[in-house]
Amino acid sequence: MTQDELKALVALEALKYVHAGDLIGVGTGSTVNHFIKALGANPVLCKSLKGAVSSSVATTHLLQAIGLSVWEMDQVESLSIYIDGADEIDHNGFMVKGGGAALTREKIVASIAKEFICIADETKLVQTLGRFPLPVEVIPMAQVQLIRQFSQLGAQAVLRLKDGKPLVTDNGQHILDVTGLKIDRPLDFESLVNQWPGVVTVGVFAHQRAAKCLLATPGGVKTLIFNS
Ligand code: 5RP
Repeated sequence: MTQDELKALVALEALKYVHAGDLIGVGTGSTVNHFIKALGANPVLCKSLKGAVSSSVATTHLLQAIGLSVWEMDQVESLSIYIDGADEIDHNGFMVKGGGAALTREKIVASIAKEFICIADETKLVQTLGRFPLPVEVIPMAQVQLIRQFSQLGAQAVLRLKDGKPLVTDNGQHILDVTGLKIDRPLDFESLVNQWPGVVTVGVFAHQRAAKCLLATPGGVKTLIFNS
């Protein structure tokens, strides 16, 4: 099976966690795109939902295209579930996210969900976070200083480009991708980097880790449940 087929498989499995009347949070990325497609292919379930809160402009367009009503964060107090992919997930449900540059809104939407369900293919499961370059959304004015701060940790941060220019997020900010990190204490690391001036959001999701991970393997989808 290709990685894309695994993503489609796990996205379909995630529909089992969506129920009539739910207001759901929806992440961003290619795995989530498969989830939205699967939801759209199930009109009975799709029509039965109250709606969704979206984590990016791209996801909003896809949700609207399948006829789901998209709610703003300030109209909603809580969500039954939040469904999103990850760039890495460890055996405690701690994740690295932001490969699609949507990490800030993803963290905001996930914060009001009763349960974070991560949908991933088996290549995303790691022993220790840090293999995937860590995305950090930053205020442009602070980016050079933040590159220096990461280098003091022995890591290398580079500005993410798109078409030769700095990528601009949905929030009008930039992304640094940081390599050379071994994040063996994700909770402490997230707290540390989040308080550096100019950091909008660090792509470690430890304080808001996943409750479950649906993990696609060629033998089927495994469900990892993390202790609370
Ligand atoms: C976007 C994300 C995605 O969840 C992450 O990059 C995984 O993406 P994909 O499902 O395309 O592999 O955090 O900001």
